Amino acid sequence: MSSVTKGVILVGGPSKGTRMRPLTLDRAKPLLPIAGKPMVWHPLAALAKVPGLSEIILIGFYEDNVMAPFVKESQREFPNIRISYLREYRSLGTAGGLYHFRDSVLRPPVPQHIFICNIDICSSFPFAEMLELHNKHRGVGTILGVKVKKETATRYGCIVSDPETSQVLHYVEKPESWISNTVNGGVYMFDVSLFDEIKVAMDLKATRAQNDPLVQLDENLQLEQDVIAPLAAQRKIYVLESNDFWKQIKTAASAVTANALYLKDYSKIRPDLLSKGANITGPVFIDDSAVIDPTAKVGPNVAIGAGVTVGEGARIANAILLENSLIDKHTVVLNSIIGSDCRLGQWARVDGEPEPETAVKGQISVSVLASEVWVAPETHIRSCIVLPNKSLGKSAANQVLL
Ligand code: GTP
Repeated sequence: MSSVTKGVILVGGPSKGTRMRPLTLDRAKPLLPIAGKPMVWHPLAALAKVPGLSEIILIGFYEDNVMAPFVKESQREFPNIRISYLREYRSLGTAGGLYHFRDSVLRPPVPQHIFICNIDICSSFPFAEMLELHNKHRGVGTILGVKVKKETATRYGCIVSDPETSQVLHYVEKPESWISNTVNGGVYMFDVSLFDEIKVAMDLKATRAQNDPLVQLDENLQLEQDVIAPLAAQRKIYVLESNDFWKQIKTAASAVTANALYLKDYSKIRPDLLSKGANITGPVFIDDSAVIDPTAKVGPNVAIGAGVTVGEGARIANAILLENSLIDKHTVVLNSIIGSDCRLGQWARVDGEPEPETAVKGQISVSVLASEVWVAPETHIRSCIVLPNKSLGKSAANQVLL
C-alpha cells in the first residue's frame, strides 16, 4: 500500500507581507496573482501532483472569509484532494500553528509524510526528488536547499551539510556571519514524527519560561530556529540541494521576477496557460476575459488579469496587470505592476528598472500602481510606488506618490 501524504502551506496573515504594500492594502499577499494565478496556487498545484497526496491544508491568521473563495475555487479545480484553511487565533509562528492544528493534520487517513511550504517563495517544488532522498535516509525531515550569492546568504537560514550523505550538520537562521551559500528554500518534507519534535521544542520553551521572565509561555514557535536547528544538531535532518529556479517573493520587484520565472516554467509544465499570437513575444498569460487589441505588442514575461483592456499600439513587457485596468492606445508598461481598476491614458508610459540583484535602500526599481490609479495621457511614471486612488497628472520619477 502506498503511504499517505498531506501538504501544508503556511500562508501567514495580515501583519505579514508589509513589504508588498501598497499591493497588499486591499488584498492578502497569498492571493496576489503571479503569472495569472494567486501566489498560493503555485505550491498548491504542485502539491496536487504528488501521487497519493490526500489533503492540502492552508494554515494562517487571515480571516476565514479572506481565504474561503480561493479554497472553494481550488477544491473545484482539484476535486480529488481535500483542501481546507485553518485559522490561527493569532500569529503562532511557523511551527506553532502547525502544532496547534496537529489533530486536523493527523486525522484519518493518517499521513506518514507531510510536505510543508512557505507561501512567499517561487520554486519548481521538487517534491518527487525530496521524497526519493527522504526514503533513502529515513531521517525526520528533508529541507529544500538552494544556492544563493555569498553576499546575501546571511539573510536566510543557512545550511552546512555532508556532501556525501546530504545530512545537515549545522543550521543557523540568519547567522551574523557567513557559514554557507546553501540556504533553506522554505519547502520541507517531514516524517509524521515531526509533531513529537515540535512537542519537545514546546516543552523546552515551557521550561525556559518558568526560569526566565523574558520568555513568554505561549504557543508561538518557529520551525526554523526551534525545530530545524535542534534537529540538525542531532543529525536528524537532510537537505535536497536543488539547482532549479527559486526566488523569495517579499517585495513587489521580486513578484515581477517570480512572474517571469513561473511563466517560463509554464512552457514546460502548463503550456495551455500561455497565450500565442502574432504580437505576443515570449511567455505571456492573458486571462480569457481580457481584451487585447491585435496591434498591441505584449511580452515577454507579462501576466494580464481578468477584464483588462489593452488598446491599439500599446506596448507591455515584464509586467503584471491586475484585474479590470484600462491601458489606452499607444501606452507603454514596462517592469511594472499595475493594480486593479487603474486607467492609463493614451501615450502614457509607466516603467521601471528590473529588480536589481541587491536592493539599494531608498531606490525604487519596478513601478507599482495600487488599485484605482489614474495616469493622465502622455504622462511618464518611472520607478514610482503609487498609493490607491491617486490621479497622476504630472510625470514623476523615483518617488512614492502618497
Ligand atoms: P523575513 O525575512 O523577516 O520575512 O522572514 P522569513 O523569510 O524567515 O519569513 P517568515 O518567517 O516571516 O515567514 C516564512 C513563512 O511562514 C511565510 O510563508 C509566512 O507566510 C509564514 N508564516 C510566518 N509566520 C507565520 C505564522 O505565525 N503563522 C503561519 N501560519 N504562517 C506564518
